[in-house]
Amino acid sequence: MRFAMAWTTLGLLGLLGCSKPASTPIDPPTAATVPTPEQTEIALRRGRAIAAETFGLLRTNLQTAIQSGGISNALPFCSLAASPLTASMAEKHGVTLRRVTHKARQPSGKASEPELALLNHFESLMTAASITNPPPPVVTNLVPGTLTFFAPIVIGAELCLKCHGEPGTDIAQADLDVIRKLYPQDEATGFKLGQLRGAWRIDFPMAALTPGADTGSPRHP
Ligand code: HEC
Repeated sequence: MRFAMAWTTLGLLGLLGCSKPASTPIDPPTAATVPTPEQTEIALRRGRAIAAETFGLLRTNLQTAIQSGGISNALPFCSLAASPLTASMAEKHGVTLRRVTHKARQPSGKASEPELALLNHFESLMTAASITNPPPPVVTNLVPGTLTFFAPIVIGAELCLKCHGEPGTDIAQADLDVIRKLYPQDEATGFKLGQLRGAWRIDFPMAALTPGADTGSPRHP
């Protein structure tokens, strides 16, 4: 019964995304509390806004760091896990915020089983157009009392390749040395433009997903 409801929610999400509904099924969420379609829609809208805002902040930090000292200086600045940025965004919006990936630089970014299922789902929807128009985000009910928003992160610019592309060609040797020193377990190289890099994960307490509480974030198309 619960599964059936959860699946309906996922179907609805496809419709709420900006492109066609998901055609590949993903693992059904283990729902304990069934969200209303309205809560799902609010999570989707706020998730998009928070991901866009955080990505904008990260990009600004990164560009400033590159301007002041090149790629090797900027390397520690793509950091989200350890940065005060995460804490401030999470606090501002009353959520938890992470980036998860199938090929992690930071061990804490490694996707769990259900997260990998979501990444596979995004991967299956990737086309040549995804570089500018990534697959639509998904909202799912992985944890009781929580709605989880996932949005794909795509290698969308040449800049990403300077730290995530082919070692030796895209990534300069000196920068590679810094990466290996900072991240001895790095798996996050070898990416090409337009490939899936990972996903944003934002967890919303379900109780906070009321229309009245939806005024803090700017609307995002
Ligand atoms: C200056 C080098 C640099 C550039 C340019 C860069 N990154 Fe990163 N990226 C890193 C580093 C370093 C980390 C690990 C951060 C940490 O310690 O939390 C990282 C982590 C990530 C993660 C988190 C998952 C993981 O593997 O830990 C994603 C997603 C990501 N980068 C995507 C991108 C995208 C998309 C671009 C292009 C818009 C980009 N990066 C550009 C250096 C870079």
